[in-house]
Amino acid sequence: MTAFHITGGIPLSGTVRVAGSKNAALPMMAAALLAEGPVHLHHVPRLADVRTLTQMLRELGVCVCRSADGAVLLEVVDPMPVHARYDLVRRMRASFCVLGPLLARRGRAVVSLPGGCNIGDRPVDLHLKGLAALGAELRLRRGYVVARAKRLRGTTIDLSGPHGSTVTGTANVLSAAVLATGETTITGAAVEPEIVDLGNFLIAMGARIVGLGTRTIRITGVGRLEGVAYRVIPDRIEAATLLLATAVTGGSATVTGVVPGHLTAVVEVLRTAGSRIESGDDRITIAASTRPYAIDVAAEPYPGIPTDVQAQLTALACLARGRSVVRDRVFPDRFQHIAELNRLGGRIERRGAKAVVIGVRRFRGAVVTASDFRASAALVLAGLAAEGRTTVRRIRHLDRGYQRLDEKLGRLGARIARTRKGVRTVCGKTNNMVSGPFYPACHK
Ligand code: EPU
Repeated sequence: MTAFHITGGIPLSGTVRVAGSKNAALPMMAAALLAEGPVHLHHVPRLADVRTLTQMLRELGVCVCRSADGAVLLEVVDPMPVHARYDLVRRMRASFCVLGPLLARRGRAVVSLPGGCNIGDRPVDLHLKGLAALGAELRLRRGYVVARAKRLRGTTIDLSGPHGSTVTGTANVLSAAVLATGETTITGAAVEPEIVDLGNFLIAMGARIVGLGTRTIRITGVGRLEGVAYRVIPDRIEAATLLLATAVTGGSATVTGVVPGHLTAVVEVLRTAGSRIESGDDRITIAASTRPYAIDVAAEPYPGIPTDVQAQLTALACLARGRSVVRDRVFPDRFQHIAELNRLGGRIERRGAKAVVIGVRRFRGAVVTASDFRASAALVLAGLAAEGRTTVRRIRHLDRGYQRLDEKLGRLGARIARTRKGVRTVCGKTNNMVSGPFYPACHK
């Protein structure tokens, strides 16, 4: 088991650069199934989830490799396979995003249903409703979606659900509609920057899409899409996590390579909590107060506070003066981090879809176990602020969503060591990041 061992109490300082966005890169990799010609994706983070999708795409006849400059190259070499197996889809829900492109390009798809996960009930009814409206015949057989469509046909589809729109559902339907005949209108579309980026990527491939970043996206189907070179947007969730890590330690740091406009809601909360923040073209600098003020926040679809930083904000709230409230309106059950934060000395009580947090002066180091990767990040943040030593176990969750978070925090001065089956790596400011090819060479 991989674990982090953190010696807390050190205010973070320095500068660190964020990686490319996981949640933008994954649906783009899936959409490479649509292209006639090679796709070069730059700024794809090196993550376990990217490796899982790589494996799945290879099984679907796509040649995937990393080039010398770090870009991920994807090219369809066998257009026949249509089977996305349970073992891979269950590891990562984003792999369900191959369904739309497979249907649009190959006319058939057999994709495992993803099932539930640690952040609660995660249905895919809206994905299926959208694809059925485009004319796909869908059946559920032995845990798989078996889908067929001779040619998808444009129509109007509403993707709003009980907790807002669906991000990967919008990605799935959008990636299918680009090759449908006629016009498709998606109402209640997700407006997250990752969807805008996916749409821009599809446009670069030759798709005709207007209305990205609004609730209504209009697509005019085209006959074919070309290969393209494209750079993925920076990861706003990683950036927010690094800013919050600085805030919980009372430090001051700069994150670079970001789009500050994607982080407006998070910056606003940090200011309410007492941090001073300055934004430049592609950077945000935070100077945190020694002890945060209480916050009253709700995670909501973009441009609201992302659910993917709700757990990290809860860690910050634990150290605030007074009583904070943190709600999650996207995933009302995403509170697995509460019990573990409380083991570190937090005083959090869950009341339905909200966490009520009574601020304490400090966390105290302990051994804790991570569940999903944002919950793991919250535990790491608490460990950085804690008195003494904290061990966060099951870091494999964190590695799914963050590109070597320990090394980045180490560059900001954190004392954090990773152990994996007895092997120990210590991160500090002087530690060099080791990067190597993640994928074996691609042999066509
Ligand atoms: N929902 C439905 N029906 C559906 C799909 C979703 O009711 O068919 C509900 C969900 O249960 C939830 C809400 O709609 O209450 C939003 O879910 P959404 O479909 O938007 O989530 P997702 O697309 O599965 C993506 C990100 C998540 C992020 C959410 C919300 C990717 C690969 N995943 O998930 O990222 O939390 O949007 O922004 O893009 C993470 O990175 O930690 C992560 C979990």
